[in-house]
Amino acid sequence: MAEHARERAKLLLDAMANLGRGLDLEAVLNQISAIAAQLVGARYVALGILGDDGRIDRLLTVGLSAAQVRAIGSYPTGRGILGELIRRQVPLRLHDLSAHPASVGFPARHPPMRSFLGVPLRVHGTAFGNLYLTQKKGGGDFTDEDERLLEALAAGASVAIENAHLYEESRLREQSARANDEISRRVLAGHSQGQLHALIADRALQVADADLAVIALPEPESKRLVVRSASGAEANRLVGVMLPPGSTLSGNAFEPDVLHSSPDATVDERAQLSFDLGREIGSLLAFPLGEPSSTRGVLAVGRYGGAVPFAPLVVEALQGFAAQAAVALELAEHRADVERFAVQRDRGRIARDLHDLAIQRLYATGLSLLAAGRDLDEGHAQRIGRAVDEIDETIALIRTTVHRLEPEDASSRRVGLRSRVYSEIDAATTRLGYPPRLRFDGPVDAAVPQDVAEHIIAVLREGLSNVARHAHAHAVSVHLVVSDGVVLTVADDGVGIPTGVPLSGLRNLARRAADLGGAFSVQSAGASGTRLEWRAPLAQS
Ligand SMILES: Nc1ncnc2c1ncn2[C@@H]1O[C@H](COP(=O)(O)OP(=O)(O)O)[C@@H](O)[C@H]1O
Ligand SMILES: [Mg+2]
Repeated sequence: MAEHARERAKLLLDAMANLGRGLDLEAVLNQISAIAAQLVGARYVALGILGDDGRIDRLLTVGLSAAQVRAIGSYPTGRGILGELIRRQVPLRLHDLSAHPASVGFPARHPPMRSFLGVPLRVHGTAFGNLYLTQKKGGGDFTDEDERLLEALAAGASVAIENAHLYEESRLREQSARANDEISRRVLAGHSQGQLHALIADRALQVADADLAVIALPEPESKRLVVRSASGAEANRLVGVMLPPGSTLSGNAFEPDVLHSSPDATVDERAQLSFDLGREIGSLLAFPLGEPSSTRGVLAVGRYGGAVPFAPLVVEALQGFAAQAAVALELAEHRADVERFAVQRDRGRIARDLHDLAIQRLYATGLSLLAAGRDLDEGHAQRIGRAVDEIDETIALIRTTVHRLEPEDASSRRVGLRSRVYSEIDAATTRLGYPPRLRFDGPVDAAVPQDVAEHIIAVLREGLSNVARHAHAHAVSVHLVVSDGVVLTVADDGVGIPTGVPLSGLRNLARRAADLGGAFSVQSAGASGTRLEWRAPLAQS
């Protein structure tokens, strides 16, 4: 007997020494259960870890297969005998588990268990979980000595758990900080949103030690979440998959900024439809990317069924990671906006230059060629004619390019005012026989509302048609200025408006201005031509 006791004491000491070296919390916990089983000779060992609500939220077992655990169904959450252990925080030793007054009975398909020994596990003075053993090997009850040994193991275990906890915490913190650094660097290097999503999914997979990580973003129209990036074994199959909205974890995560997690998605109906994979996802976490008011998507990570659920430390680390990643994405988007704006401004400038300079010059070249061709012989005149035709084709080509370069009002997909002005100018060019000079100033497409734009087009059309019909001009210039109001000027170098002529179209232009609280004026001084100026205020937003 004394020999046996010495052996067990040695086993306990060896175990403690080993435990002290363990840094991986999962491994430490599994080791504790295994040592307990060996130390006191029990058929089944379970280590229950308490959640924040004081109920068991994870259970590690020895002696039960994964299939058996699953067959038992929902594991004890702290009612009955286990609840007793959690409340009282003292060891509990029973001859027959089911005979205890606190027993609430076993769920169906639970293997038979009679003898019972349970001890609380305390870390830092607070309840961490319970270690409990059933079915003493060789029959009989657990002994006094068993109880003392198990208590000693529990004391040693709490130190090991604490160590592993601290180590895990610093490892996670370091890993997610490194991942966030990397993401920030890529943002600064100008990586696209798509590239950033892929990186975030990759790093989330690593930090969480998950089997799968996805980033799902809402579709602009339907608002349904679609997987945009995925990392992990099934990644390729998931990209493009639409996640069901509403009551699912990912659907919910998109709205408020609380964490949505499921310890076992295989039996959690909120997560049931979340992913359709070859293998079932067990533990699942879904985080919103961004603040509730500006959530841009969902980051979800999962482990396959049967794997250890995500520990609270991992959840915390990942939550921080997701929050930082969202900030990075926001930055990247602003950056992209600024770049897009710069590109558009550039394109606008090129378009204006092409229109104002290149087309005018080509026109002039064409005209002087025609003039020169008049005095030449047939053969040369023909060649000049072909050259002029080519110039005309070039002008047409430039016009198309100009249209394509012009930024349209992307938000409403309607044709922008700038484009419509170009169309009017093009149409008038044919009737005039020369192209009007055109200048824009200010945010023509962005700042002019639709109704004012309609007026401007009408005024421009009337002004140019008057020039074509009445002015006998050689040139006309159109200038549209947008600032706190719009000013459209159409000025020609024609014969001017004769005094005393009846007005009709011009009267309409005055009415259009008055309707908007603007002003209309006509200057006409004989040989120096006619100048229309039409003004309307813009509502300040
Ligand atoms: N740019 C212009 N150059 C010379 N005369 C003009 C010009 N615009 C208008 N007019 C003269 O003013 C008249 C009134 O113009 P408007 O009110 O537009 O009526 P409509 O164009 O129908 O004649 C015209 O008939 C024309 O004689
Ligand atoms: Mg008219």
